[in-house]
Amino acid sequence: MPKVLVSDPIDQAGLDILSQVAQVDVKTKLPSEELIKIISNYDALMVRSGTRVTQDVIDAGKQLKIIGRAGVGVDNIDVPAATRRGIVVVNSPEGNTIAAAEHALAMMLSLSRYIPAADQSVKAGNWDRKRFLGVEVYKKTLGIVGLGKIGSHVATVARALGMKLLAYDPFISSERAEQIGCRLVDLDLLLREADYITLHLPKTPETTHLINAESLATMKPTARIVNCARGGIIDEEALATAIRSGQIAGAALDVYESEPLGTSSLRELDMAAILTPHLGASTEEAQVNVAIDVAEQIRDVLLGLPARSA
Ligand code: NAD
Ligand code: MLT
Repeated sequence: MPKVLVSDPIDQAGLDILSQVAQVDVKTKLPSEELIKIISNYDALMVRSGTRVTQDVIDAGKQLKIIGRAGVGVDNIDVPAATRRGIVVVNSPEGNTIAAAEHALAMMLSLSRYIPAADQSVKAGNWDRKRFLGVEVYKKTLGIVGLGKIGSHVATVARALGMKLLAYDPFISSERAEQIGCRLVDLDLLLREADYITLHLPKTPETTHLINAESLATMKPTARIVNCARGGIIDEEALATAIRSGQIAGAALDVYESEPLGTSSLRELDMAAILTPHLGASTEEAQVNVAIDVAEQIRDVLLGLPARSA
């Protein structure tokens, strides 16, 4: 019987599918030396974002046929190294779209009304209503950077909230943007005009530090930025400086240049910043979706059926 190693927490629905065709070992939080030591025993590896599947892991996985990422981003997997060894890499491009979009929208509304800080204040025994005077999103301009699956759902909901929508995405047409109620503009204009900016693009060499000291300086002092895409698209030090100095009004981040977030000036910011620990895909529904989606693909490959690669 083939063997599958599951090295991050995966919903039981996915484990049940894998168990139909394979022996499934769930071993989470493995140090990388330990993973490298045991991976040669396995035909398939299933991960979320916690496991770094490096070239060393891939080279040690002599029997590996497939690596499954229960989520969208495969940036924790060395895909070129896997391809060189003929190992298929699969993901779940749509399983957590709604979860991530809803998290970004929740961040935008929480930033506007200081909900996390107000909650902490009441729980600490205070009743401070003046400190938490918020702003409305109605009739404000939302700039969406990356109008793919998540960005498009954010647009649909934001439109229902009465927001005006700008989008920047070099790979989609103005017609497509208009269908979702967005005016496609260049990035400079979006950053200058938006009251809220939300990022929904992949991290690539081109998008690393896309939001930096220079671009932050072009934003309105009332602008608030949300990043539920990938850490490193925003230069965190430049962002912390911009918030501290009042150059922009705030930020809500779910993803960081280095995860888990270590010592960081982001942690020292007041209620103008909201930080969550990479929770975009953390809904019951999304975790079932991605687990089933990826487990089915691993099962098929172990049965000798063709794969749909990431
Ligand atoms: P998608 O592929 O459907 O959309 C990405 C969009 O970004 C595409 O339309 C693409 O054309 C656009 N894009 C690419 N390069 C760009 C650039 N330089 N400038 C502007 N736009 C650019 O992907 P998606 O499913 O919508 O996911 C978006 C991001 O969210 C990914 O980075 C993904 O890894 C991340 N994500 C995070 C979480 C989380 O837990 N926080 C959950 C799911 C997805
Ligand atoms: C993804 O790319 O799907 C997200 O980062 C969510 C996750 O970590 O599973």
